[in-house]
Formats: sequence, structure tokens, C-alpha cells
Amino acid sequence: MNLEQKAQVLIGTGMFMDLPDSVAKLFFPEEKKEIIDTAYQQMVDHIRTYLPGAAGFSAEFPELNISSQVLADGPAGLRIQPTRKGEDQTYYCTAFPIATVLASTWDTDLIYKVGQAMGNEVLEYGADVLLAPGMNIQRDPLCGRNFEYYSEDPLVTGKMAAAMVNGVQSNGVGTSIKHFAVNNQETNRLSVDATVSQRALREIYLKGFEIAVKDAQPWTVMSSYNKVNGTYTSESHDLLTKILRNDWGFEGYVMTDWGGGSDVVAQMKAGNDMIMPGTPEQIERLQAAVKEGQLDEKVLDQNLIRIFTVMFKSPKFKGYQNSNKPDLKAHAQITRQAATEGMVLLENKENTLPFSIANAAVFGTTSYDFIAGGTGSGDVNEAYTVSLMEGLSNGNIAVNEELATTYEDYIKKEQAKGEKSDNWLTVLMGGKVPVAEMEVSTSLAKKMAATNEMALITIGRNSGEGGDREPVEGDFYLTATEKGMIKTVTDAFHAVGKKVVVILNVGGVIETASWSKIPDAVLLAWQGGQEGGNSVVDILTGKVNPSGKLAITFPVSYDDTPTHTTFPGHEIEGEVDEAEDLSGFSFMKRVPWEVFHEEDIYVGYRYYNTFDVPVAYPFGYGLSYTSFKYDNIKTDKDAFDGKITVSVDVVNAGEVAGKEVVQVYLHAPSEKMEKPEATLIDFGKTGLLQPGESQTLSFEIEAKDLASFDTATSSWVAEDGDYQLLVGSSSLDIKGAKDFSLPEFTVVEKVSEAMKPIKELNILTKK
Ligand code: BGC
Repeated sequence: MNLEQKAQVLIGTGMFMDLPDSVAKLFFPEEKKEIIDTAYQQMVDHIRTYLPGAAGFSAEFPELNISSQVLADGPAGLRIQPTRKGEDQTYYCTAFPIATVLASTWDTDLIYKVGQAMGNEVLEYGADVLLAPGMNIQRDPLCGRNFEYYSEDPLVTGKMAAAMVNGVQSNGVGTSIKHFAVNNQETNRLSVDATVSQRALREIYLKGFEIAVKDAQPWTVMSSYNKVNGTYTSESHDLLTKILRNDWGFEGYVMTDWGGGSDVVAQMKAGNDMIMPGTPEQIERLQAAVKEGQLDEKVLDQNLIRIFTVMFKSPKFKGYQNSNKPDLKAHAQITRQAATEGMVLLENKENTLPFSIANAAVFGTTSYDFIAGGTGSGDVNEAYTVSLMEGLSNGNIAVNEELATTYEDYIKKEQAKGEKSDNWLTVLMGGKVPVAEMEVSTSLAKKMAATNEMALITIGRNSGEGGDREPVEGDFYLTATEKGMIKTVTDAFHAVGKKVVVILNVGGVIETASWSKIPDAVLLAWQGGQEGGNSVVDILTGKVNPSGKLAITFPVSYDDTPTHTTFPGHEIEGEVDEAEDLSGFSFMKRVPWEVFHEEDIYVGYRYYNTFDVPVAYPFGYGLSYTSFKYDNIKTDKDAFDGKITVSVDVVNAGEVAGKEVVQVYLHAPSEKMEKPEATLIDFGKTGLLQPGESQTLSFEIEAKDLASFDTATSSWVAEDGDYQLLVGSSSLDIKGAKDFSLPEFTVVEKVSEAMKPIKELNILTKK
């Protein structure tokens, strides 16, 4: 390969999405065209046809046996263009439940199955790598992309991601775990500099990635847009070489996020092997850097070897003839099941649910315009979304037609007003913003209560790439109209002895404490993918007993979160030099911006439970239609000797079959280093237990599970002293505890010294 060809493989071949002209102009300004030579342009035009709608393609050189790699989004399913000019055939993909739903199942076997199905669509539609899973920590409830991520907890995140990667890759296609790392907000994501302690990095923000790399070896990793401790992640040798490769043993290649970072030379040196989506200017720059002696060509060779190692495994290289006909029907069944398993029952007074009713009055605009998933690159082009109305009809529950018509007319009128989002990404990617809620009058509520067996009310929220949510009414908080609707409808139905169920069709956390005790039941349905309406009805009718539990805390108010004073950061003096930016993404403004992770390791329940802050619903919480007894909690030894096993018999003590998620938390000594009150170190889910049936779950705890990250020595250490294993049904509902001791201070693992903060950081401590 000559230098030019090397540069052309390392730098992607451009932005391929079918863009409206106004946006396309930003990517392909006409005046820049002449620096692309014709042979290259012909190749690019050719590979464009491989998979319309895929996010990126690497160059191919058939004469050198180098094939293109087709990279397509993720993470809720494969994102491609559903139709092609001049063709009758459609290319719809399955919209699986958003990652937050998948995490709430706490069922890694199920996530593996979802991954298997998703990966089959990747293979059969002709992609090589799925740009998924997203696995940033849900640091703050308002991150606009939380729906694409799993949890506030790194263990849940890592285990879910590993299961997903293993499932997708079982098809012989790759994944790209993203966005590595600390991409915990959308506000100024291209320029934000996050200052985070090395301990919080290792224990919270990197831990999930570490688990996924070690347990699943994803083919690729996607570095993030942001900076951490002063350096763009895609230019950080500490992150991409010392930590990812040397400490964890990652064997694949790293690609940038689309337009991430600013200096291709620094990226190459850091170990960011592929630049996406890539521009001709970057190809030129790379060659010039080698010729001018700023970059050793050997660095490029090393990065190419990593790219080729993955390429050799890829379907395109092997000449796989994709069918374009994945079994969408079978996958619809999997998504329906996965969504029911991840829905969380928050309230259920006097066994309101499950119900057996013939008709219902359905309130809330979102009931009529159900949301399958969030917006942006994580949005899938599915053939259909089962709304709540269709779900009810499939479940033989009649809905009040008069009310339905009133809502449908109202929604049409509101949509015609055309209140459009001004976020270019939302516009570009067709995000769905729920219309403002309709006022429900007392007379309407009373009329419905007289003739219908029950009321269902849906509250909807949506968010997505390019923007964060806000702690205001209509977003984190309910509006007065929404609260009024819940109150008015509940009063009217209660007055005639009938019940009310609220369904939350949301992608992230909202405020619940001020209203959730008003109705009789509250089901957190999340955004359940294209079968969402069917999944909700499966739960409401008891066809499936809910077994989902929260993988993120619901605080009482936004001001109770540990991040409310620091999220999403603030503008700083100075300018980001956009002249240097050759990524073709200069239209996405880089505002000088910084954020300080002052809560440090106290993210999510680690904060609430350590500082005794009351919450609306704790991490790990979720109700069932049955109840479980925890018997015989025991450990196999009193002193740790490299391992300890804790086990519990879970008994279904109720009257219907069900599954239980069991969580194991660690309370560790804090003589030398402070510790959160409790940290999740393992979890498991029972099979479907019949009434009276029991199952023993065992958890093997290893030395690393006891360890915290000691910055002074760059090592994972476990203090000698008394520990406690807490076995619970949620982080606040501990069923039993077992003590054990660690006789000696143990250095579990020494790792690279890396990623030191360069700005002063005042971290939260217990003292
Ligand atoms: C997103 C990534 C995505 C990529 C390609 C970026 O803007 O942050 O998650 O994979 O675009 O579409």
C-alpha cells in the first residue's frame, strides 16, 4: 500500500446519510470537491450503494484485497434507510426496546437474545459493524441520550453491554461500544471538557467499558466527542492505549465518533485507528504529516493492522451474500417479550393490576401517539409501532370511541400548528415531540367514569441526540395540565368506585413523587420499541407478570440529584479553534465549555444511600403481582480467601407465577479510603417461579469485587477489615446481610497511571 492508500483506509469515506440538500451542503461543500481524485471518487460512489442509510463506510481497494467495512447505527436496532429510489422492496428494521428498558430486565440471557436478533439484521442487510451498544453512565437524569444508555450503575451497564455484544457478534458481525468515555451530556458535546477524578473514572465511567471489553471483546470501540481532563478522548493516548489496550487487553480498532476531536495526527498517535466519517482534507493532512516528519508511518501501519484484523472477520471481506430478508416477524416477538420484562411496576394499590376489563376510557395524548424510542442516530426506521390503542384492541379491550375521537382531533389540530423543534439533529432525524397535553374537564371525566370500567392515562416524554432535557414543567416535571388530568380523572372514577392506571411512556426519569399516589397504579412502560402497545397490555392484563426493576434512581425532585449544580457545565473564556477542524462538522458549533464531576464516585444510588437523601423510587425497585420470600441467605466461609460465595433461596410466596431480580451489595470498610454505603457487586434473576416454588441463586464474589481504585498507587485495592454482603430486592430493601472479613490489605491489580485532572476539582466527601 502506498501512503495515500493507507491514509484513505484510516480516514472514512465521508458522510453517507441521505441528507436534505441544506444539510448535505454542510458536509460536501462544492468548492472542496477538486481535491478528490476520480478513482477515489468512483470507489466512494460505488461503496455508497452497499447499504443506503448506514452511517459510515471505510474505503475499499479490491486489487489489494481490502474490503470496505459498513458501519451502521444502533443501539435500539439497525438504522438504515427503509426504502430505496426505484425499488419496491422495503428495508425496515426492528425497533427494539431502548437500552434503559433492556437494563431494567436485569436479564443478561434475554439481552443476549435481543443482540442475536439485532445482529442478524445487521448481517442480512449487509452491514459489518453495528454502532452499539451505547454505554455511558446515566450521571444525571436529564442527559438527552440516557435512553440509549443502560444505567447509573457501571456493573449493570457493563454486564448488559457484554451480553449485547456477545449476542450481536454471535452472527459474525461486529459492534462498536460507545461513546468512550464520559459522554454524559449532549450540551456542547463536541467541545465540553469534563474534569473527573481518576478514581471516579475507574470506578464509575470506565468500569462498564472494562467489563464489556474483558467479557465480550467488541470488534471496535467508538471514542467520544468530549474532552476528559483537558484532552479529547480520541486524542488521548492514556485512554485509548494505556487503559483500553494495555490494562484491559482490547484487541480491535477504535473509531472516532462522527466528527469528534480535532487533530488527526494526535488521534493516530493516541491509538484512534479510524476517523469517521472522514473528509478529503483529513486524508491530505495525514499524508502531509508523514512527509513532513510529524508522524512516523509505523504508527499508521500499526493502526491499519488493527483495522485489518477486524476486516478479516467481517462478512464483506468473506463475501457473504446477504439476503435482505431477516425474520422480522420472529424479531417482533423478541422485542415484545424484552419490553414486557423491562417495564417497571411503580405503584399497585389493592392489586389494581392485573385487570380483567372489557372497556376503558383512555386519556393523554401519548396514548394515541405512542413513542417507540428516542430521537437522533439511535432512532430506528421500523415498519410500524403498536400504539397503546392497538395493543388494547389486540387484547380485546374496547376503548371509548368518543374520547378517542376527541383526542385524535385535538392531536391533529395541535400538530397542524407545526411547533417544530429547532434542533437540526431532531429535524434531520425526524424526532417525535409529543404535543402539549389536552385539558380534561370535570364533566368529560365524569361522563367517562359513568360508562367505562376503568381509566388509563399515558404521560409521554421524548428526547434525543444533540440536546439535554430540562428541569422544567413539560419535561422533568409534569405540567399543571398533566397533573390536573390525573387528579380530575382519578376523582371522577373514584367517585363511582372505579380505578385509574397511569402509564409512563418516557425515555428517562421524570418527577413522580408529587402525584404518583393519586392514581391506583403506575406502570413505567419506558419506550418499549415497535411492539410497545402490545407489551404494555401484556402487563396490564397479567399475561406477563412484571419483573423489571429500576436501573436508575427516581429522585424526589431534580434538586435532590448530586449533579444538579454542575450539570451540564458552563461556558469558559477562550475560543475553540475551528480553523483546525478538518472533520467536516464545523457546522456543529464548538463552544468552549467545561463540567466538573464534583459528586465524584457518588453517582446515583451511591449518593442517595450514602447521604440519606430520600428518593421517590430507589435503584433496583420494582413491584410484582406476586411476592417473594428470601430464605437461607448464607456464605460459604467467614474469611475471604480469594473468593466467597453467597447464596439465597428465593420462594414465590404469592399466588401467581413470577420472576425476581436479586441484588448483592457490598458494604466495605473505609478506614483508608472512603466508600459508598453500598455498591452493587452482583445480581441475578430467577426463572419463572410457580406459586410455592423456590430457586437457589448463588453469587461468587472475587477479589476485584471488593476493590476500590487507589489513585496514589494506580491500583485496585481491598482494605483489610470487616465487610458485609447485603442481599436485597432493591438497594433499599435488603432482605439479609452476611459478614465476612478480609484478613490482609490486598492489592488486587496494578494498572497504568493515566488521565490525571489538570484543573482543580472539589470533590464531595463524607467528611
Ligand atoms: C453519534 C453516534 C453515532 C454516529 C453515527 C454520532 O453523532 O453520537 O452515536 O453512532 O453519529 O451516526
